[in-house]
Amino acid sequence: MTYAETYARWKADPEGFWMEAAKAIDWVRPPTRALFAENAPLYEWFSDGMVNTCWNAVDRHVEAGRGHQTAIIHHSPVTHTRREISFFELRNRVALLAGALRAKGVEKGDRVIIYMPMVPEALEAMLACARLGAIHSVVFGGFAAHELAVRINDATPKCIIAASCGIEPGRVVHYKPLLDGAIDQAAHKPDFCVILQREQEVAHLIEGRDVNWHGFQYGVEPADCVPVEGNHPAYILYTSGTTGKPKGVIRDTAGHLVALNWTMKNIYGVDPGEVFWAASDVGWVVGHSYICYAPLIHGNTTVVFEGKPVGTPDAATFWRVIEEHKVASFFTAPTAFRAIKREDPTGELVKNHDISSLRALYLAGERADPDTVEWAQRVLGVPVIDHWWQTETGWPIVANPWGLDPLPVKVGSPSVPMPGYDVHVLDEGGHPVPAGTLGAIAVKLPLPPGTLPGLWNADDRFRTSYLDHFPGYYETGDAGYIDDDGYVWIMARTDDVINVAGHRLSTGAMEEVLASHPDVAECAVIGVADDLKGQVPMGFVCLNKGKTASEDQVMRDCVALVRDQIGPVAAFRLVLVVDRLPKTRSGKILRATMTKLADGVKFTVPATIDDPEILNEIARALEKIGYPRA
Ligand code: COA
Ligand code: AMP
Repeated sequence: MTYAETYARWKADPEGFWMEAAKAIDWVRPPTRALFAENAPLYEWFSDGMVNTCWNAVDRHVEAGRGHQTAIIHHSPVTHTRREISFFELRNRVALLAGALRAKGVEKGDRVIIYMPMVPEALEAMLACARLGAIHSVVFGGFAAHELAVRINDATPKCIIAASCGIEPGRVVHYKPLLDGAIDQAAHKPDFCVILQREQEVAHLIEGRDVNWHGFQYGVEPADCVPVEGNHPAYILYTSGTTGKPKGVIRDTAGHLVALNWTMKNIYGVDPGEVFWAASDVGWVVGHSYICYAPLIHGNTTVVFEGKPVGTPDAATFWRVIEEHKVASFFTAPTAFRAIKREDPTGELVKNHDISSLRALYLAGERADPDTVEWAQRVLGVPVIDHWWQTETGWPIVANPWGLDPLPVKVGSPSVPMPGYDVHVLDEGGHPVPAGTLGAIAVKLPLPPGTLPGLWNADDRFRTSYLDHFPGYYETGDAGYIDDDGYVWIMARTDDVINVAGHRLSTGAMEEVLASHPDVAECAVIGVADDLKGQVPMGFVCLNKGKTASEDQVMRDCVALVRDQIGPVAAFRLVLVVDRLPKTRSGKILRATMTKLADGVKFTVPATIDDPEILNEIARALEKIGYPRA
């Protein structure tokens, strides 16, 4: 069936479309219907079905006689190791881990925080929670203790599962002191912590609270899968919003299963048994959906890659993984390709590897710039497919459905809306704009299965962040347009979210950190264009009159504070001390104008500006540090 037919079929009968897709899932009790709209504009999917995610991702493949197929490949250039885990072995490992968690009191509905690097045990921990109906919340390893503490307080976990360390090029990341620091800072204390001791660093365990990953599984009964209601939360994933407090995106169980399974063939074009690789991190939504859940649910082999696109050990590491494991479909962020292109501009290294198994490259997480897309297409010789989605949606909103019916690629556009998503571009008043006109991108409610039903502990915030501005729609926070052929073009965020090397970060959160410096009177953080990372944060601080430290010291402090409070992943290195910030007459800081100034983009001075001279002051400060870039 073509894309056009599939999309039309969904539009004509969404209920029938999703009930049909639901047949690919093993239900303990099948749902009687797909959509539950009783609490509109809050929607749920398959709520009266009973199902278990771990069963669908693991056990059912063993039952179907595919236990010997490799489920997980761990490819770790940073530890010089490779490891394969079959579905059979995975079932046993996960059942035992779940049994050990249950023996220590973890039950359906309890929260479990997972703070781990890219090791298969991270996936096993997620699946063990799913097996019990416990709700996991994975926290990215590049976040600092404070960010972890914020998540501990919000999710109130009974247990935290962590590794002793992670490995970044050139350094060992000491997870355990970060974990201990976070628990010290948090008001909520978990009952116990499970620590995976890695060879590279053995952590000190706190008696009475910490247990060893292997030790605590000794002699326990393996746990069976616990059936849960379709609308039972599978996980909470915190993501950056406008303020310093992250949003806890909830993912319900059944919709997640149905939607992710549908995407594997129709979008990513793979059949069960083939190798699928998403080079991301389990701490991000891409890692949840396309390293852990979707490939396993669909019966694919997934690659857990612990390394970087360059430097581990070189810019051919991706090609080595594809060749060694015969990867059929590969997904990463454009920034990874920019990093490789910088090291190997002509793509010479690709030629040393047989990457003939690869059928397509998928890019998401940030705008895929045409240079990078065209370079990747040239050196890999396969279609490069940009697709657009968010933590909130859990799977692509807009894509080129390569497995269904490849459409002509328009470089710079992620292509067309997927079934389930009725995408519109709206003006400020919420009215649809004509094709080609820029506006806010919104999706008509209800969102499809697998998308967020709400935010953890934050019903009001869910409505104000996503539903209130354009009644009847979900506000994506992205701006763009739809062209005459129905292709969607994503141009910018409409809020304070920036994308640094494919990592979603909040400038508002960074401003809160800078404002905590005793000498900082006022500040603003913007995202400026960066050749490698797409965007990097830049801070502007105005100092108090009676300040004690020198300007240089304050700048150094600011960099250290953000690293300490948010984490190294923020890549916060640029700070400027300025006398004043440009504002509107009503006192709103003109961040968008500052961004244009720093990026060297033409702009008109806003009519509402209080004092236009301040823009000249900012321009002079930027010039001193070489902005705008040539
Ligand atoms: N645990 C601890 N620290 C981490 C981390 C983790 N899981 N991930 C990143 N960091 C640290 C890095 O060590 C680095 O610290 P440093 O300031 O001491 O050097 C900092 O956070 C920034 O990391 P990163 O964003 O990875 O930048 P980089 O300069 O080290 O590498 C790229 C640049 C482009 C190679 C890298 O960003 C990359 O591989 N990007 C792809 C991103 C991606 O897959 N995103 C997921 C969305 S699909
Ligand atoms: P995250 O929630 O971390 O996945 O980040 C989601 C945001 O990243 C989106 O709202 C966009 O701003 C941006 N983004 C993701 N994919 C794309 C893409 N293909 N093109 C442009 N922006 C993207």
